[in-house]
Amino acid sequence: MAKILITGGTGYIGSHTAVEIFNAGHQYIIVDNLSNSSIDVISGIEKITGVKPIFFNIDLKDKTLTEQFFNSHSDIDSVIHFAAYKAVGESVQEPLKYYENNLLSLINVLENIKLHKIKSIVFSSSCTVYGQPNKLPVTEQSPILKADSPYGNTKQISEEIIQDFIKSNNGNCKAVSLRYFNPVGAHESAEIGELPLGTPNNLVPFITQTAAGIRAELKIFGNDYNTPDGTAVRDYIHVVDIAKAHVAAINRLLNHHNKSDFEVFNLGTGKGNSVLEIVKTFEAVTGIKLNYRITERRPGDVEQIWANTDKANIELNWKTQTSIGESLLTAWIREKKYRRI
Ligand code: UD1
Repeated sequence: MAKILITGGTGYIGSHTAVEIFNAGHQYIIVDNLSNSSIDVISGIEKITGVKPIFFNIDLKDKTLTEQFFNSHSDIDSVIHFAAYKAVGESVQEPLKYYENNLLSLINVLENIKLHKIKSIVFSSSCTVYGQPNKLPVTEQSPILKADSPYGNTKQISEEIIQDFIKSNNGNCKAVSLRYFNPVGAHESAEIGELPLGTPNNLVPFITQTAAGIRAELKIFGNDYNTPDGTAVRDYIHVVDIAKAHVAAINRLLNHHNKSDFEVFNLGTGKGNSVLEIVKTFEAVTGIKLNYRITERRPGDVEQIWANTDKANIELNWKTQTSIGESLLTAWIREKKYRRI
């Protein structure tokens, strides 16, 4: 059993990971400043696990507060660092907010990892680092293309910062960067899920809110892409499967099974689905007819991307277990529970 710090642990992927870290028999502490999450997530996790999580409301941009936290928790074995902003569009409007938050928090965490001789970190990265790849599916060797948004750039820069840090640290710390494709769905209990603050940018929360009658219609952004049905293709992966990959990454680091001090893994299903396929699958598993309309393309969207997952399957001994239909159903059940419908 190890003690894991989960930064951003009240967020969407962080909260699901906290549950799986608990299920794997580890101890954990959550640090989050609740800037894009709710304190109710703590009771959601407690309902699932039966144990109230240890939680600190700390802004990791604050060097002094971060130092104080680590000084009083010197027995942390590993960090899973989620805490970051993630809205692509907002990052274009307010780039400095994104660079400040995402990079300063990471730097403060790494400084304390060094100071307290913490042995490992798992970093929350994104397939956005690949841009629109020339060859599909994308492997971890696919080129990193210039980021389309400040958000995407923070993920690229963060991976570079971590690599430089690891190199400078004489093998005392190891890192795994997990590049998520499109996380969807919610815990089967529906006690936690994606928090719907404001108008959703992402497809699945927009679908569930349309089904719940909160949004009048779903706009499908473009049907003139070079894909089988003309709508854009992504690799949608259930959030609990993503969470379980974090457990595999942590155990790999704790057991010294890593092959180098900095490793990268794609987290996807290996299969692409078009927007229209997602809509049709949602309708089939829920029996709800969605009101949708084809509109123009969304600026900045890539046409199609899905993962080659061989490396994660073999090295992490991890595989996705949940079908896209099951994933969409969990998203809908969570929406209904949250809205009390
Ligand atoms: C985006 C980011 C990704 C980030 C993720 C999390 C890019 C290229 N990717 O993923 O880096 O980690 O968000 O926030 O910016 N769609 C509609 N109608 C909608 C919403 C979405 O048709 O109302 C379509 C989009 O055009 C896209 C697909 O659904 O083709 C998925 O969109 P979304 O859920 O926003 O995820 P990404 O853009 O793939």
